[in-house]
Amino acid sequence: MEEAETTLLLEGATPSILPLPSETDEHFGRGPGSKGLREVFHNSAMEGSRTRSVLLMHHILSSSTLPEGKFRVLDGLGASGIRSRRWVTELPSIMVNSLDIHVCDLVPESLNWVEKNGEKFHPEHPLTLIPGDLRSRVLEGGWHWIDLDPYGSPMQFLDPVIQALSRDAILEVSATDTAALTGSSKGPTMRRYGAFVRTDDWAHDSGLRVLLANVARTAARHDRSIEPLLSVWESHHLRVSVSVKRSKQGASAVEKNIGWRVANPTSEELASSIEAGLHAHGSPERSQPFCFLPFRHSINHKDRRVSGPLWIGPLASSEVLSSFNMEIAEKLCVPDIDSLASWGFPSEEHDSLIENSRRSVQKAIRRFSEEAHVDPRSSLLIVDRLHPYIPLLGPPSPGKLAEALTNSGHPSCIASYPNPAILTSAPWELIHNLAQEVSTAGPNS
Ligand SMILES: C[S@@+](CC[C@H](N)C(=O)[O-])C[C@H]1O[C@@H](n2cnc3c(N)ncnc32)[C@H](O)[C@@H]1O
Repeated sequence: MEEAETTLLLEGATPSILPLPSETDEHFGRGPGSKGLREVFHNSAMEGSRTRSVLLMHHILSSSTLPEGKFRVLDGLGASGIRSRRWVTELPSIMVNSLDIHVCDLVPESLNWVEKNGEKFHPEHPLTLIPGDLRSRVLEGGWHWIDLDPYGSPMQFLDPVIQALSRDAILEVSATDTAALTGSSKGPTMRRYGAFVRTDDWAHDSGLRVLLANVARTAARHDRSIEPLLSVWESHHLRVSVSVKRSKQGASAVEKNIGWRVANPTSEELASSIEAGLHAHGSPERSQPFCFLPFRHSINHKDRRVSGPLWIGPLASSEVLSSFNMEIAEKLCVPDIDSLASWGFPSEEHDSLIENSRRSVQKAIRRFSEEAHVDPRSSLLIVDRLHPYIPLLGPPSPGKLAEALTNSGHPSCIASYPNPAILTSAPWELIHNLAQEVSTAGPNS
């Protein structure tokens, strides 16, 4: 009976049985689909996000001082529990033994699938099920790690979730309301996030920063400060992972990392940004694509060049970025043949399943190790938008420009971003000269 009604799936190195999707069940496949509550949600497009959760937890558990008792984890909007099940299946057993993982979901059928999968694939590590609304169920508190992966905006959950974290905790937050975060739905941008966002090529970066500013301000209201560990924009969703620490002093200093992005800044605005330590490129007298300004800088709210308030500090931790290396990732997140056989995958599929997992893991962490070597204050420079700030016949190749800047002593890299872009903190004069050199060497040379 079971075989006829369920399908066996592999994600990373974790098997799952799930109900066969109906023809109208968009949530089972790719894309955001409708917002209705189905028997159990599963979106394979979030595989990369879950792979990064496994690697982040691996890094935190191997590099931090852990609490004396168990490390309490809440998969707050768990659906089929695939994220929790990936932690349990893919982390080394010495780590898994220190975890106490709970999965919360409003829909009882979702939790039935968490249970079924646990009994079938990892009965030795049962997950604790929490039926009900996360906003009330989270309050028992003391969580060392909470994952918040909602349909749409996470804002309704942030306040109770942050209050329920332990003194020193990790919070991962996704958002799929990209139209609001990138400013193309102006009402929701202001209503949900208290911000306005210019809909230009930097809008995705601004969206991540608006989300981080909201996480930081909510944390500050509860005497906590945040440090971003990882911020990723991927197809239809954004995700930020932050460390949250109880600290009145840190919370009071929240304003240090909140401010504005101004496109086409004047030389006075560039000078203010440089003076505030927010613009590593210098050269206030030369026109540049954008700069950040501190929160207290007087802003004309009708000025269409402005986005914010948004997070103006680093978006990730170099230590976390460099921990995401392929050797560890493949060891944890790519299955072996014996495991595939024991889970019931047909032998003729083993090679392609292993290859697909490997490719997906590579895609999930591509470029992070390069980004780890770049100054965290680096700007995102979109190569198609360097002209007219730098007179160019065509956009330079991001790879060539990043390489030329690095060779000149300013570590730079291609950015993980939808538009071709680099991350650099090099002086503007050098960027100007090398961009011209690289672009005159030939189209996309
Ligand atoms: C986007 S899905 C989560 C996906 C999941 N984290 C994963 O990696 O596959 C959102 C889930 O939140 C659940 N949900 C929605 N509102 C909720 C609430 N207020 N409290 C608890 N669960 C809720 C839905 O039933 C759904 O399963």
